[in-house]
Amino acid sequence: MFAKGLTLILLAAPFLASAAPAELEARQNIDTSSHCGQWDVVTAGQYSLLLDQWGKDGATSGSQCAHLASLSGSTVSWATNWTWTGGTGVKSFTNIQLNQGINKQLSAISSMPTTWKWSQSTSGSIVADVAYDLFTSNTAGGSNVNEIMIWLANFNAGPISFQYGSDGKPVPVASSISLAGHTWNLYSGSNGANNVFSFLPTSGTITSFSGDLKAFFTYLTQNEGVSSSQYLVTAQAGTEPTSGSATLTTSAYSLAIN
Ligand SMILES: *[C@@H]1O[C@H](CO)[C@@H](O)[C@H](O)[C@H]1NC(C)=O
Repeated sequence: MFAKGLTLILLAAPFLASAAPAELEARQNIDTSSHCGQWDVVTAGQYSLLLDQWGKDGATSGSQCAHLASLSGSTVSWATNWTWTGGTGVKSFTNIQLNQGINKQLSAISSMPTTWKWSQSTSGSIVADVAYDLFTSNTAGGSNVNEIMIWLANFNAGPISFQYGSDGKPVPVASSISLAGHTWNLYSGSNGANNVFSFLPTSGTITSFSGDLKAFFTYLTQNEGVSSSQYLVTAQAGTEPTSGSATLTTSAYSLAIN
């Protein structure tokens, strides 16, 4: 009797022991410390947090920090706080980058499901955007040919554009495009290095976005001459501040390339 009981306990033990780690597994162990260096990178699972303060020398003063908060399955949360003064240019593109599934030809991508829930607190007036930033190239890992931005918010900033109206505002190349459950105006221009296509919401700010980013590429291949043989080489999402002070908190972000 005693021996049989012990066997049962021993058999049961591995099941009891595995219950707790299985739950812990969902939330991965990651570096959640604050990083403030110009080019700091923090990698967690399939994502990297990139400080990418490429324009900071254009500021008279300021700084920016960021940290990852959690990674559960494919959902990452992170935050960045920044203060920038001076200069009219963008100071940084602190972003979360997807490292998995890139370098595929657009024609080979069936879907790019994404969710992005965020909030922002600001002090005073700011100039910034909150946007996806995607790059395509002629070859896998090659230099950028097209930049596709999908803005979820425009805080007194503006997209790159070939055309401006007499009021100084950029003129869209296409208006009121319905994609991924929202309505967008599309701007086209060049940053000197590559073409830039920017989708901006026709009104308001989208703080909870869920959709398939492949739809934006399909629109560009069908209407703007982007070749479906282009390779998607970079997939990032973050904020481009020019001036002011803000904290952007992403409570949930996920992106996959299928
Ligand atoms: C951002 O937050 C970090 C950590 O709390 C802090 O050390 C840093 O001074 C903050 N930076 C800005 C620009 O607000």
